[in-house]
Parts: sequence; structure tokens; C-alpha cells
Amino acid sequence: MTGCRFPRAVHLVSLSDMNTLSGKHILLGVTGGIAAYKSAELIRQLRAEGATVRVVMTAGAQQFITPLTLQALSGNPVHTDLLDRSAEAAMGHIALARWADAVLVAPATADFMARLEQGRADDLLCAVTLACEAPVALAPAMNRAMWDNPATQKNVQALQARGMHRFGPALGEQACGEVGPGRMLEPDELVTALASLFETGILSGYRVLVTAGPTREAIDPVRYISNHSSGRMGFAVARAASEAGAEVLLVSGPVSLETPPHVLRINVVSAQDMQDAVLARIGGCDIFIAVAAVADYRPEAVAAQKLKKDAQQVTLTLTRNPDILATVTALANAPFSVGFAAETEQLEMHAQAKRVAKSLDMIAANRVGDGVGFDAEENALQVFWDGGSQLLAQTGKMKLARQLVALVAQRFHGKHKKVIRFNAKDSA
Ligand code: PMT
Repeated sequence: MTGCRFPRAVHLVSLSDMNTLSGKHILLGVTGGIAAYKSAELIRQLRAEGATVRVVMTAGAQQFITPLTLQALSGNPVHTDLLDRSAEAAMGHIALARWADAVLVAPATADFMARLEQGRADDLLCAVTLACEAPVALAPAMNRAMWDNPATQKNVQALQARGMHRFGPALGEQACGEVGPGRMLEPDELVTALASLFETGILSGYRVLVTAGPTREAIDPVRYISNHSSGRMGFAVARAASEAGAEVLLVSGPVSLETPPHVLRINVVSAQDMQDAVLARIGGCDIFIAVAAVADYRPEAVAAQKLKKDAQQVTLTLTRNPDILATVTALANAPFSVGFAAETEQLEMHAQAKRVAKSLDMIAANRVGDGVGFDAEENALQVFWDGGSQLLAQTGKMKLARQLVALVAQRFHGKHKKVIRFNAKDSA
């Protein structure tokens, strides 16, 4: 690790306290198998880990366990119909797919997997799974002969080749009285397997400081200059870095977002406040990711009282704010530094100029304006570094942030010639 620790006054959650399911949105799909009765306990355990659970049941699943039971346990309405207008109005299949940080289908019957393999979208669970860009995990459960059947095996292999995860099945005595592979994993085993999807460990042992949101530059006690940043992109980056195992400090301008789990947040208002907060803590950091939309200028003088609107015209004299990112990269022991570039035109030219001018290791450029970038659910990034670039195509900001953090970790480890400590599961 480079650099020293965050100052003692700052309490950081130790890595051993980390619970990767805490704060995650888990969409549990339940299909029609006898193991559906275990879904009740699965939901209880997922919630005990801090996850928010929404359940989608197929018609078959409802023959084995009632939606009411799973609704009571999940604390959320259970979704059953693709063509239910009131349900679609509340949270439709696309909204559900976007909501999920991961989809777990448990039990996943042979029929469900066959339909998923075909790309069918004629029931709610298939449609949501098809539309979902988050990780999807299947917990097969069926008679051992059905599991061994080449048709099932072919379907499962095809789904795994498409990036879906398979948890189980286990060997053992089955509900039909036979013994063999086909038992659904127990709820605690499924919870552990699901948690492992979020543990990349690529930044374990490192400290990351992220800035996010806008700054506000006071004109008088009631007015200020600011911009449209919602903080979503920066908060997603902070969350993704935390999921990657880093200890994350988030310095945020005024936004109305919840702090991501296990992230330490410091609220600031102005660019000067943000600079002070960053410089006080940057010494403990290995990586600095500046996502904040910092106001470049502030009123030269802040009026002590509310300005009166007597005059037809008012002239504000603005003065330059400090450039936080450039100040950090100029430090003797500067961390690996990643900037963002918000551009309305000539993305690459302007972003590359900023990368060079601010001595950045990487810069992530995004288009802004006309409803893009600022205050939007989705974003796209073109990431540049010395001698290379990568396009991260338009998607939800959380997914994009995970891709960005993976890229940052790759280049950070490359720079420090550090061997990434993979978990055993990663090398399996
Ligand atoms: O918050 P959202 O609604 O989700 O929107 C996300 C976003 C569009 C704000 C984000 O993706 C983004 O582009 N952030 C950077 C916005 C910006 O200020 O870009 P810039 O090109 O003006 O600045 C370049 C870099 O210098 C940025 O990393 C910025 O944080 C940093 N900077 C800028 C000025 C300054 N005084 N100090 C800085 O540190």
C-alpha cells in the first residue's frame, strides 16, 4: 500500500465488518418446484444480511407457496403478472430489472431454465431476467434424472456461457425419494454464494477518496451559484469501490442521496470546503477519484444580507475557485488520480487536454447537457489514459461505476506492479 492512513479522527469500518449484501437490492425469482418452500427462509436470511428483497413468483411457484407468505417476509409486494396494469404502473418489469443489484432464481426449475435459454419473455420472471443487466444466479432444483438429462445440461451450460452464475444443485435425498444431484442448496449456502458475487476484492486493503455532487457558491445568505449534478455518478463510484474491497471516503456536495453502505461520508457545501476536506484526508489515500462538479468560480464577495431587488441589473464579480484535482496531483506523494470531464462537445480533445494539464493517471469523459450525464439514471464514459482508452457504453450509473472501478483497479495495480489478490473463487 502506498501512502499513510486516514487521520485517526476519521472512523473507518474495518474490512472484517463488511457485509457485501448490506444495502443490496436482491430480486428473488421463485419458480414451481417443491424447494419453493425454502424461499421463505431464504428471504429471511437475505434480509438479516441487510439486503432489500423483492420477489417475483411464477404461476407454478404459487402452487407451492403463497405470495402472501413471501410478501410478509420480504416486506414488499410480490410480483406475479407481466400484464397486470396496476403492478406495471407501480413497478414494471423494466423498473424491476433496473432496481436489482442481482437476480437470484431459487428454485430454478428445468422448465424455467429451458425458457430462459430460449430468451422467452412471456412471463414476468423471464422478462425481468432478460431485461436485467445485473448479475443473475440460478439455483437449480429438480429430480436427478431431469438434472442429468442432456437437454437440461445443454441449457444450463448455455446460460452459464452467457455469464449467468449457477449455485448448486447439491447431491442428496430428493423429495421424490430418489438420491442424486438436484437438491437446491440450503438458504445459508445460497446467501454465501450470492454475497460472493459482490466481492471482487480487487481493491482490498486500499483507500479510495471520491468527490461527488455539486458545490454551492454563496451570493448572499439565500442565493448561490451551482450546477445540475445530482451526485448519483459519484455515489455509485464510491459504492463500487467499496464493493471492490476498498475503504472509501466520500466527500460530497449538497445532494439528497443515501450514503452507500460502509462508506464514510463528509458533507461539504462550497468548492473551498471540498478542497479543505479533501486535502485534510488525501494523505491516507491510494486512489483519488474526482467525480464532483466543482464550481469553477465563486462570487468575489458574499453579501452579508439578502440582496435587494431594486436594481434593474446586477453585476456579480466572480473569482476562480481552487482546482482541487490539480492541487492533489501536485502533491509530493500524490495518489493514483482519476478525473472526470463533463463536456458538451469535442469530448476526446477536451478530456485529453484536462488529463495532461492536471497530470492525471486517467480521465473519464462524459457528455453533459440536454438531459444527458447530469441528473440522469444512465451515463456513458470514454476513459483515457496515457497511451490508451476504453469506451464504457451507456448503462445505469451503478453498473457503469463497477466497470470504471475495475478499469481503475487494473491500471492502478499495473502502475504499482502489484499482484492482485484474487479470492480462491476467482481462480476456480
Ligand atoms: O452527479 P450526477 O448528476 O450523477 O452527474 C455526474 C457528472 C456529470 C457530474 C459526472 O459524471 C462528471 O462529469 N463530473 C465532473 C464534472 C466536472 O466538473 O467536470 P470538469 O470538466 O469541469 O472538471 C474536470 C475535473 O476536475 C473533474 O474531475 C472535477 O471534479 C475536477 N475539478 C474541477 C474544477 C475544480 N475547481 N476542481 C476540481 O477538482
